[in-house]
Amino acid sequence: MEYIYRESISSMGKKLLIIFMTLPLMASLAACGGKKEALTTEAAAQTEAVAATPTAEEKKMLTFSETDKCRGDLILVNADHAYNFDANASFSPVRIVDAQQYDYPVSNEDFRLSPDIMHALDQMVKDCDEAMGTTYTSVSSAWRSKEYQQSVWDEMAELYGEDYSEQYVAVPGYSEHHTGLALDLGIIYDDGSEGTFSESENAVWMAEHSYLYGFIRRYAENKTDITGISNEAWHFRYVGVPHAAYMYQNDLCLEEYLQKLRADTSPEQPLEIEAGGTKYSVYYVSGDSCPEPEESFMISGDNCGGIIVTVRH
Ligand code: DAL
Ligand code: ZN
Repeated sequence: MEYIYRESISSMGKKLLIIFMTLPLMASLAACGGKKEALTTEAAAQTEAVAATPTAEEKKMLTFSETDKCRGDLILVNADHAYNFDANASFSPVRIVDAQQYDYPVSNEDFRLSPDIMHALDQMVKDCDEAMGTTYTSVSSAWRSKEYQQSVWDEMAELYGEDYSEQYVAVPGYSEHHTGLALDLGIIYDDGSEGTFSESENAVWMAEHSYLYGFIRRYAENKTDITGISNEAWHFRYVGVPHAAYMYQNDLCLEEYLQKLRADTSPEQPLEIEAGGTKYSVYYVSGDSCPEPEESFMISGDNCGGIIVTVRH
């Protein structure tokens, strides 16, 4: 079911219907010790959809598993909320150099990201370079396995001590970089030499425009008490356009935004967001089900036990 979280919202509603028609079958297979992985591909899901005959009741409600609550564009990963590797076992990041459509520098050709954010990243970097008259906006870090994060942690701790490391490097298992939705931007000039992104005008442009592409500047100076991480001008996280727009316009970090959704919204009382000329309704679901929206929608877990539904009008 991985793909249902990472797809254009326009086709999400239709696919979700197919997916949720398969859920009873998947649950019974899991109960019998059947392999969940076998049902995680689109082909498998669609095959089962043909076999399943949903009742009227199933068509009207969406139901969510514990796994669903740990996957998607809005999952919170921080010192209090570990990344759930098991729930995301089918996630497969792609090499940026293979997937990129705009030829920006990447500091290591093995760096990978979620394939579903590549288009937004390409467009953002391209527009930044065009606006600034540069060709050097680059990617300096991307998806990290737990082992890779450990090596980043060890290197930083050895150089500057653990107290300093804690301010800038997440403990392995608790890093957004595990999601494939987070990356660090850098500067690599044509001759291969590197600049300091945080001191560049490009960093200012990114801070002010990244929300247009669905990214947030995740670790701001005025939110360090909440995020637990010091100011990082280079670290960007994909969350999706309406969410990024709301966070940017209301100066909320991801922790604050999710808390607002939990406290103030429900299927009956959504948060209305207008972004890029499109209207969205966003709401939190605390239980294991909610009525199926009548318009296009997508879902994401919050990695804290809940689900966020985003409906596009
Ligand atoms: N630099 C961020 C906090 C990380 O290590 O995930
Ligand atoms: Zn980072």
